[in-house]
Formats: sequence, C-alpha cells, structure tokens
Amino acid sequence: MIGWWLALWVAGCGGSEDPCDDPALTWHQAGEPFLDTWCTPCHSSAVTDQARLGAPVGNDYDTWSSVVPHASAIRDQLTTDPPRMPPAGGADPVEIERFVDWLDCGLPGGEAEPVAACDVARPVPGDVVADSGLCSVGTVAVAGNLEVSSEVDVSCVCRVGGALEVVGAGEIALSQLASVHGTVTVTGGTQMLRMPRLTSIGGLSSDADLELLDLQALKAVGGDLRVQGSALSRLSIDHVVTIGGTLHVSAAPSLEVIRVDRLERVAGDLILSQLPALQRWQTTHGLVEIGGRLEIDDAPALSHIDGLSALSTAGGDLVLTRTGARSIRGIDRLLHVPGDVRIEDHPALTELSAIADLATVDGDLVIRDLSQLATVDTFVFVTHVGGDLVIEGNDALKALPTFTTLERVGGDLVIRDNPLLPSAAVTELATSVTVKGAVVTE
Ligand code: HEC
Repeated sequence: MIGWWLALWVAGCGGSEDPCDDPALTWHQAGEPFLDTWCTPCHSSAVTDQARLGAPVGNDYDTWSSVVPHASAIRDQLTTDPPRMPPAGGADPVEIERFVDWLDCGLPGGEAEPVAACDVARPVPGDVVADSGLCSVGTVAVAGNLEVSSEVDVSCVCRVGGALEVVGAGEIALSQLASVHGTVTVTGGTQMLRMPRLTSIGGLSSDADLELLDLQALKAVGGDLRVQGSALSRLSIDHVVTIGGTLHVSAAPSLEVIRVDRLERVAGDLILSQLPALQRWQTTHGLVEIGGRLEIDDAPALSHIDGLSALSTAGGDLVLTRTGARSIRGIDRLLHVPGDVRIEDHPALTELSAIADLATVDGDLVIRDLSQLATVDTFVFVTHVGGDLVIEGNDALKALPTFTTLERVGGDLVIRDNPLLPSAAVTELATSVTVKGAVVTE
C-alpha cells in the first residue's frame, strides 16, 4: 500500500484511483525495464546453458509476447513475502508493485497494440525543431532533419527523412519512430532515449550521459554506430544483422553487457575499448565478417572472449589486449589477417587456442605479457608473418607455439623475457625460419 501511495504522491494526481488509467503503464515503460533489470539476466532466450543459472529453459521474458504465457506464474513469484524472484532478492517493493500493476492491467502497450502507419502520417517539409505543438495533429513524418532539444512530446514522429539530433533533452520517447534516414546523434545531458519501434537508421553517434537507450527493434544500421562515454549499463542491439560502418563502443564506465545476438557483418572496424565493467559481449549467431580492424582492449572484467568462432574475414588488425579473459578460444575460421595480430596483457589467461587455422599474417604477430600462460595451442599452420614475430614477457611460458609450417618472417624475430622458455627451443626456431630482419633473443 505504501508503494501505491508513493506512486500517487509522485504523480501528483489525487484524482484517479485506477493504475490502469496511467498512460505510462506500458510494456516499454513499466514492463520491460523491470524485467530487464531483475529477470532477463537469467530468463532470456539469448542466455543459454550455464549462464541461465538454472532458470528453466523456455521461460524467457525478453519480449512482450514471450512474457504473456508466463504472466500469472510471474505474478505468483513476485507477490509472496518476500518475493521468490529474483532468487537473490533486491527488487524494490515500489518497483515490484508497479510491475504487478502492469500485469494486472492486462500487460498494456505490447506488440499487439496497433501502430499508426507512417503512410497516413502528416508530412512535414524541411527541417524541424521539435516544440510542444509538433504532436497536436497526429502522426507526422519529418522530411528533413529533426532536432529535439527539450522534453517535448515527440511520440507522434514516425519517420525522419534526414538526421535526428537529440541535444541535452533529459528523457525522450520517440515511441512511433520507425526509421531515420540519416544519423541519430545524441549529445550532452540526454539520459533516456527510447525508440522501441525504430528499425532502420543511417547511423548513430552518442557521447552523452545516456543511461538508457532503447533500440530493441533496430535491424539495419547503414553507417557507423558509435557509443562513447555514456552511462549505459547495457547496450542491446540484438536484432541488428549488418552494420554498414564501424561499431565503436568505448569509454563507458558502467557498461556491463553488450548484446549483439544476431550481428553477422560489420563493414568497418569493430572496436570495444575502455570498458572497465564489461562482463558480457554476447553474440549467439556469430560474427562472420569484419571489414576493418577488430579490437577488444581494456576490458578487465571480461572473462571470456567468444562469439568469434564464425569469423572468417577480417580486413585489418586483430587486437585483443588488456582483458580479464581466462581463455581465448575460437576464431578458427580465420585464415588470413591483413594487419597485425596482437594478443597482449591478459593477466588471467591460461588458455590460448584461438585462431588455430591462421596461415598468414601480413603485419606483426605479437604474444606479449601473458603472465600465466604456459603453452600456446595455436599457430601450427602459420607459414608467413609479414612483419615482426614477437614473443615477449610471458612469465610462465614453457614452450614455444608449434610453428611447424612457419617459413618466413618479414621483419624481426624477437623472443625474449620468457624466463621459463628453454633457450634451445628459441635457437631451433631462429635457425629453421628465414628472418628478413634481426633476430633478438636477449
Ligand atoms: C539468477 C537467475 C534468476 C533470475 C535473475 C530470476 N530467476 Fe526466475 N528462476 C530462476 C531459477 C533457477 C528458477 C527455477 C527454480 C525455481 O523455481 O526456484 C526460476 C524459476 C522462475 C519461475 C518459475 C517457472 C516455473 O517453473 O513455473 C518464474 C515464474 C520466474 N523464475 C520468474 C522470475 C522473475 C519474474 C524474475 C525477475 C523478477 C526472475 N525469475 C529472475 C533463476 C532466476
């Protein structure tokens, strides 16, 4: 009851008694955020095997329609004292009450709700700066650019023909927006941006204080997708298959989960860096192609580097540095890297069996500062390293990788500061391979 009182008091509307009259009691505002925080870490179709921590298979709450069949079981779990789910507790009673209201009101705002079709929308020519009158006459399609710089109602916009710029507007819900031809730019002070029906964009760039970015329906990204310096704890673009440019996520101190379940192709670089809280980087279908560089750098909480087992084409460097990975496996379809391969500074790494079929590296091949790694179970098929081959500073390394087929190193061969490595093995490699540059073993 206290929660109910609070809700009334916060809303400041003593008149209405029925929570079902609240227009904000929707899937996107009341259902999904609660489930995403408290339940989908285990109950999600994208979370499999051990990661479900025992949550029954098929008991998934990631979409409105997957919640519907479980609504009453969910209600039962939440209305005991204390609530039985989540198992470790923690959900706030006021939050639970609101979520249960949402269930009791019939799960409003779900996918079954009709959406106004954009072809009957009122066209608005030219560029538009959103003001309080924009949505006074129903659904609109903006032909040019749309700028949103204050918390006005923009829920009527179904299409933006140019770019969408959200500038420092705290909470914005573009709840009908289906497509943005140009780039979506989010800057300074925007905390929540909900675009739950957005399926296609030219690109996205966010360097804002974003705490929530809802892109759950997004399928197509024409250009770059950049999220830099945000306050997001989760980035989910789990329906996107292809990114026409670069995917760059960096300097987001609270980002814990990146979900790109269906992502197969990134035409440009794929860069994840400076993500101190990142625990999970989830691809279930598997990335097949990266047109540019692949870099995962400075992610000390990331204990597994996976989702790369289908990768067969990389257009640039392959850089895996400074993570908390205990093992790096997979990437076994990649035969050729046109840049450098760098595996450096993973203090917890005990297994390196990735890139097992790699045949040629045009740049440098570097294995450095892997303090716990004793053996390297890969690189058997490497015939050619175009740049330097460096194996350096690996405190526990007892044996060199089995370079059975290595013929030629185009740069220097540097093998040093591996205290447990027998010098005979180093000498043997240095004599069996043609090294164009210097041989450095001290
Ligand atoms: C840490 C993982 C985890 C989280 C988070 C979690 N669950 Fe569960 N859930 C489980 C496990 C394990 C079971 C099976 C054992 C049991 O029933 O206690 C389960 C069972 C259930 C069931 C019963 C399914 C059946 O047998 O009918 C429901 C309903 C449920 N959870 C709802 C929720 C809801 C709602 C939330 C969020 C408020 C949630 N769970 C959060 C792990 C989790």
